[in-house]
Amino acid sequence: MALLSILTYPDPRLHTVAKPVQAVDARVRSLVTDMLETMYEANGIGLAATQVDVHERLIVIDTSEERNQPLVLINPEITWASEDKQVGDEGCLSVPGIYDGVERSSAIKVRALDGDGKSREISAEGILAVCIQHEMDHLMGKVFVEYLSPLKRNRIKTKMLKARRDTERV
Ligand code: NI
Repeated sequence: MALLSILTYPDPRLHTVAKPVQAVDARVRSLVTDMLETMYEANGIGLAATQVDVHERLIVIDTSEERNQPLVLINPEITWASEDKQVGDEGCLSVPGIYDGVERSSAIKVRALDGDGKSREISAEGILAVCIQHEMDHLMGKVFVEYLSPLKRNRIKTKMLKARRDTERV
């Protein structure tokens, strides 16, 4: 197991479109283990492979209070999304310290392979639905701040670049 480093906005690699996972083999299972460890260590509720600079369609999620219900979605596809939408505050491990409202479908159905390569369809609502949509955006090269106004996005970009310079100076 290993902790992976997480790309931070506005790293251009976050805008890479991920390719489908070809086979759920030992390499992919090991990546899943590392991504889960990285997500738990960072106190996140979701992590997309894009964020650890692996451009394959794979996400890990755990929205449980106890942090013991990992969900692995490989090659996820949304098969249904409710017309009903909700705005909720989102954050992202790639945009630390920033939280803002994003409008998402309140309920979705997703088909994906699990960590054993078995196909399954899950229904999600509430925080899980939000999290899946947020992580699937990462696989398309989209970071949640891109839903915000250009003014807000530029402020966030400036703040992130400054934080990175400050870190590099230490
Ligand atoms: Ni994110």
